[in-house]
Amino acid sequence: MSNHLKQAHILWKQTLSPEDVVIDATCGNGHDTLFLAELGGQVIAYDIQSDAIEKTRAKVPQATFHHQSHASFVETQAALIIYNLGYLPGGDKQLTTRSETTLQSVGQALQIATKAISITCYPGHPEGAREEALLVEFVRGIDPKQWMVCHHQWLNRKAAPSLLWLLRLPL
Ligand SMILES: C[S@@+](CC[C@H](N)C(=O)[O-])C[C@H]1O[C@@H](n2cnc3c(N)ncnc32)[C@H](O)[C@@H]1O
Repeated sequence: MSNHLKQAHILWKQTLSPEDVVIDATCGNGHDTLFLAELGGQVIAYDIQSDAIEKTRAKVPQATFHHQSHASFVETQAALIIYNLGYLPGGDKQLTTRSETTLQSVGQALQIATKAISITCYPGHPEGAREEALLVEFVRGIDPKQWMVCHHQWLNRKAAPSLLWLLRLPL
């Protein structure tokens, strides 16, 4: 597993309790959904591709699935919401996450996530670079009384994936 995902997994593990509800907003091949399910909570998975939903369902049959865009969440609350942006490895690169939809979704995630939001960005392709830049600009403006926002980058690797970690502050 690549280093940026290891980093994200460490944070998810530290943050979650076994009774938590978690949304995987981009389930893809289901690796992250499986990791989250193994932490013990209830996992809800979104993806726009039926292939992705079925691959993930085969790995994590106990999850709840929404074959729809994360632009609008069905749920009104979840402890953690995770995004692994970009396109499905080995799949159609046109079916990548899009900046506008991602920003809309993260805006909603800020309303419903009670503990944290995790966003893995892939600036190595043009839409991914634009998406990362727009997200960084957006999260910089989040109310510091409500959220702590961190951008984790491997600085000595060109266009390496990066992680945005948004932690909700206690009331
Ligand atoms: C990098 S892959 C996710 C990898 C996944 N986390 C895993 O562990 O295998 C990104 C996924 O986002 C999905 N996606 C793209 N736009 C989406 C949207 N608007 N809503 C939900 N999923 C979307 C793609 O279909 C793709 O499966």
